[in-house]
Formats: sequence, structure tokens, C-alpha cells
Amino acid sequence: MGVLDGKVALITGAASGIGLATSQLFASEGAQVAMFDRNADLVNETAREIGASALAISGDVTDEADVEAMVASCVERFGRLDIGFNNAGIAGAAAIHDHELTHFQHVIDVCLTGVFLCLKHQSRQLVAQGEGGSLINTASINATQATKGLGAYCSAKAGVAMLTKVSALELGEHGIRVNAVGPGHTKTPMTERARDVEGFDEAMIGATPLERLGEPSDIAQMVLYLGSDASPWVSGQLFYVDGGITVNELPPGFNMLESSLRRPRGD
Ligand SMILES: NC(=O)c1ccc[n+]([C@@H]2O[C@H](COP(=O)([O-])OP(=O)(O)OC[C@H]3O[C@@H](n4cnc5c(N)ncnc54)[C@H](O)[C@@H]3O)[C@@H](O)[C@H]2O)c1
Repeated sequence: MGVLDGKVALITGAASGIGLATSQLFASEGAQVAMFDRNADLVNETAREIGASALAISGDVTDEADVEAMVASCVERFGRLDIGFNNAGIAGAAAIHDHELTHFQHVIDVCLTGVFLCLKHQSRQLVAQGEGGSLINTASINATQATKGLGAYCSAKAGVAMLTKVSALELGEHGIRVNAVGPGHTKTPMTERARDVEGFDEAMIGATPLERLGEPSDIAQMVLYLGSDASPWVSGQLFYVDGGITVNELPPGFNMLESSLRRPRGD
């Protein structure tokens, strides 16, 4: 028996990283999973590995026709929709004074407008079914944590956090819950380049109370909780899954326990 027995989930950015780990976990918990990604070869391959409970759909979250067709294909194959995980995203860094408009707009299109289009077409289906549902969006710790060079990404993720709240407000009367997950630095292909920078991992780990980077499965476990019936009264929230790094608001390296507090009283 799985906690998602009988449920149908639709996951974007499903061919890689967090979306793939979530697809695998959901399938292992009994869900039928429609996996959507712009990387057609990879989503076909990864869905095939999961087996008959997975359906691969290729397309782009920034294209409304693709997103509408994505929901239709899921319903055609599995008969309904219960859970949407709107997770496709891209990063890419540039300083404000150097940022190309086209690049800024592309990040906003994928990370924010793509989530809007998914929420729009998934919620239409859920409202029509009339049995509620759970929609989960991937934000980031960058929804509230500014990072140099990530003007577009941070703005998009802050937008996802607010869109999550507005959607929860509007869709609650239909029994539809909407939440966001905010990963910290997680080991996926998206973060490979940053991890190649010397000292980057060490600095991240040093600022993280749980002293390691995230695994895609760490994030998937939170999405499972939010998607399942274990969270029936949870809506409109952003949940950080980040090893505690957002608690650390002081400069990395600042550690009172290792300086003045460790000295015996009276010194
Ligand atoms: N990895 C991290 O540290 C981290 C931290 C915070 C938030 N996130 C967010 O998690 C989500 C997943 O990222 P990941 O780390 O698993 O990255 P990833 O690169 O491994 O996976 C992202 C997937 O999204 C797909 N995708 C990208 N643009 C698309 C589009 N326009 N239409 C359809 N599919 C598209 C890619 O093909 C890829 O398979 C993203 O929204 C990302 O911003 C990641």
C-alpha cells in the first residue's frame, strides 16, 4: 500500500533532478505520474524506466498550448488529475547592469509564467472534477533570500511564493490546496556549474546547520507530504527544505559559540 494509491500526479521538469526524484517517489507510493519536460529524449527514457505507471509528455511550460495539452494528455491516459507539481525551472546569472533583457524575460517566463500557466490549466481540471486536489510549486530559498547575480531568478521565485498564496486564496473554496516548496542548494544538474567553483560546496555546507547539501530525494519527501492526504489543512505556505540554511542570517563564518561565548564568564 502506498500513500498515493489511486492518485494521479502531473509533474513538470520531470526528466531531471528534483522533478525526476519526485516522479520516482510518487510512482513508488502508488501514484500514476504524467512526467512533462522540454527534454523529450530524457523524459521518454526516465518515464520508461519507471514503467507503466508513468507517462512521458514533452513540451515547454512557457507555451500555453503545450500546457493545456499536457493536462489533456494526463487526463486522457489516467482519467483524472489529483496532484500538480509545477517544478520546471532554469537559473543563469548576470549582474543587473549587464543583464540582457531577453535573458531576464526568459527566466521569468520559465520560472514564473510557466507556473502560472500550469496552475491555470490544472486548477480548471480540478474545479471541473469537483473533488479538490493539491498543487505544489517549486520556489526556492531565493524567494526571500537575495543573491548577487540572480536578479531574474530571485524575482521569479518571489513571484512564485506570492502566486502560491493568491491561488490558495482563490481555490480554497473548491477544496484545492496550493503550496510551495523552497529547496536550498540541492545536488542536481542545475547546480553542477556552481559546484565546480572551488570552495563553493564548502561555503554552502559551512552555512548549513545540517552540514550537507540537499539531495533531490530530500525535496521529494516534502512534495509527497504536500501532495498526499497527510496535509489536508495545509495551504498557501512556502516550506523551505534547506538543511536549515535560511536560519543562518549572519555572514557565513560568524559563529558566536567559537568566539566570545566560549570564553568562561568573567574573562
Ligand atoms: N537544485 C537546487 O539547488 C534548487 C534550489 C532551489 C530551487 N530549485 C528549483 O527546483 C526546480 C528543479 O530544478 P533542478 O535543480 O531539479 O534542475 P534540473 O535542471 O535538474 O531540472 C530541471 C528540469 O526542468 C526542465 N525544464 C527547464 N525549462 C523547461 C521548460 N521551459 N519547459 C519544460 N521543462 C523545462 C529541464 O529540461 C530539466 O529536466 C527548478 O524550479 C529550480 O529553480 C533548485
